[in-house]
Amino acid sequence: MTKRIGILTGGGDCPGLNAVIRAVVRRAIMHGGYELIGIKSGWRGLLDCDTMPLTREDVRGILHRGGTILGTSRTNIFKNEETAKKAIDNIAKLKLDAIVAIGGEDTLGIAKKLTDRGIKIVGCPKTIDNDLMGTDLTFGFDTAVSIATEAVDRLHTTAESHNRILVCEVMGRHAGWIAAYAGLAGGADCILTPEKPVDVDEVCEMVKQRSRKGVNFSIIVVAEGAKIKGQEEILASQRKDDFGHVQLGGVGQVLAGFVAERTGFDTRVTVLGHVQRGGTPTAFDRVLGTRYGVAAMDAVHKGNFGVLVALRGNEIVEVPLSKVSEGIRTLDEGFYEMTKTFWGY
Ligand code: F6P
Repeated sequence: MTKRIGILTGGGDCPGLNAVIRAVVRRAIMHGGYELIGIKSGWRGLLDCDTMPLTREDVRGILHRGGTILGTSRTNIFKNEETAKKAIDNIAKLKLDAIVAIGGEDTLGIAKKLTDRGIKIVGCPKTIDNDLMGTDLTFGFDTAVSIATEAVDRLHTTAESHNRILVCEVMGRHAGWIAAYAGLAGGADCILTPEKPVDVDEVCEMVKQRSRKGVNFSIIVVAEGAKIKGQEEILASQRKDDFGHVQLGGVGQVLAGFVAERTGFDTRVTVLGHVQRGGTPTAFDRVLGTRYGVAAMDAVHKGNFGVLVALRGNEIVEVPLSKVSEGIRTLDEGFYEMTKTFWGY
């Protein structure tokens, strides 16, 4: 009997989502005996029974496209018992035998809760922030780093021409992976991440040290989730989403104000924002997303549920979905310390 498999993409979008969707569908066709159903707008699609067919034709020409053909949302079906029950009832109504959930900690946290209620789920690790537990790498990160690196390269030439300090704010809610990688690849003079409170005096001293040596420009890369010592968390908006996340943004501007005041340098800010998430994925993310999609469908085919497909070294493995809820995978301390070799003069 043909098995009906639902696929959904949840949370913030991410380059490579379409590569995963395509790979799941193509692998299912290869195995045979499956009908693939796209659940639209993340977990919200389950509440509304909003679905679309996912045939070979539906996934043609999407590999290189950014975003997600299924749409996404930050809907939390476990916000209350009523919505949780409705979602579970609808899984039965839609006659879904299993679900492949592609998302980050929130989306996969829901997947784990559904697993505990007997739903057959395989998770796929997504986020440009690369901060998901259980895997060495999430798809989308490589693309975000490439975009941020190009931006840092471009900021360099204009900073040098004007003898300015340029602060570049990148994404990274809880972890500084994008800041550290793009900062290192782009030759930033200082990298600030959520893992370590920002010492403004130290940052200003670095700028002044360069100046004493005759270098009158600096590039500072700061993650949006970085906190300045002695200051409240800086937010773009207090409004919380379904998972209790506030909207971050603005730390670059506040930091630039301090640096300008204390060093006397002309200082400007660039906030990269959603540019890091949009557009075409890198070849690396297309390949990683494809490998995850194939592995997710293989897990379904083998009947391995309640698992997350993950990268360990260069191998794709399956780990328990519960891994995701163990916390945030923060930046390696040693890696961050190493970036300091290149700070200042
Ligand atoms: O989780 C990825 C991420 O890009 C975070 O770095 C960022 O804080 C958040 O998404 C912003 O997403 P949105 O604007 O869609 O709420």
